[in-house]
Amino acid sequence: MGEFLNFIADIEVESPGRINLIGEHIDYNGGFVLPTAIDKVIHFKLKKRKDNLIHVESIGFENPLKIEINNLNKSSISWHNYLIGVLHYINLLCPNKIQGFDCIFKSNLPVGSGISSSAALECGFAKGVNELLKLNLSNQDIISLCQRAEHDFAGTKCGIMDQYAVINGLEDHFLLLNCQKITHKLVPAQLLNHKIVLLNTNISHNLSTSEYNIRSQECQSALNCIQVKYPEYKFLCDVPLEIINEFKTNLSDKHYKRAIFTSEENQRTLKAVNFLKDGDVVQLGNLLYSSHKGLRDLYEVSCKELDFLVEFTRNISSIKGARMMGGGFGGCTLNIVKEDYITPFIKDISEAYLKEFNIKLTPHIVKTNNGVKVL
Ligand code: GLA
Repeated sequence: MGEFLNFIADIEVESPGRINLIGEHIDYNGGFVLPTAIDKVIHFKLKKRKDNLIHVESIGFENPLKIEINNLNKSSISWHNYLIGVLHYINLLCPNKIQGFDCIFKSNLPVGSGISSSAALECGFAKGVNELLKLNLSNQDIISLCQRAEHDFAGTKCGIMDQYAVINGLEDHFLLLNCQKITHKLVPAQLLNHKIVLLNTNISHNLSTSEYNIRSQECQSALNCIQVKYPEYKFLCDVPLEIINEFKTNLSDKHYKRAIFTSEENQRTLKAVNFLKDGDVVQLGNLLYSSHKGLRDLYEVSCKELDFLVEFTRNISSIKGARMMGGGFGGCTLNIVKEDYITPFIKDISEAYLKEFNIKLTPHIVKTNNGVKVL
């Protein structure tokens, strides 16, 4: 870690991961989602060089990135591509403005666990480059260029939620993000005497390769079918349940289930905001359980490890709700747990998980946090 401490930076940036309270897999369907940034972060240091080279080193990952500004091609090392993608799109927005620099970063954000280490990497790096080279990119520019980098360089056709939350998160708040307008309203994170506990299954998903992009295409196909009769619906989340039901026989069973899930999940997010405002943690928690059920049975993005963790919490009065979070197929569950029950809960569930799967669970008690900041 000495090399990180010894690196004399011109600019330092801290970039958080994100959680999503509810509203899963609906950002790319024009829905409402309820994410915020968390206190697990990537810390970047950057300093200018006198030549045209860009060197990026990561504490904890091998193979530093060494690249020339005029040669921003994809790399065979996956973490490089997030950064190369960011540089590529910055270069398109600000032609001939990128100069050589050195960058080093370290992270306490677990990778591949559904808390958006990739958006934290993209957005933190983009913010650092923007500040270092005084490029005057707006936060909105950074959000969309990072999303494009993820689409085209990492291969995940993600929605806007992660990049948006990583940039705009606010301590003690969730962001009710309208994914059509790309604007948000702040919702105070009133969980009374409860905390958010993430339980990492330590099963790693690979969103980019397969299922995530397939879900997005399935939703588009369902919408296309509905639009033949109802062209006024531009997003799947806007289609009311009664209309989706009209198409029960026209849509394949799979497309029908995807459509029902998106419509219901969108409604759940809006209800969750009201329960949060009223401080009704019990009703809020019930929505989390319904969300998990939908993700498991209708959207089919859960896995046995996630289901086990959610089921374990059922009927424990100190746990108000639990569900899988993020893209799915592994990663974390999000649990709303009464403060005085956190320690015994983690002990019991870790033992049960180890016994069932012979895998160690990693718990994270997370706090809400501000978005990317220049230190
Ligand atoms: C990933 C994507 C997001 C979102 C979630 C699921 O984190 O990057 O855009 O779709 O999955 O809600």
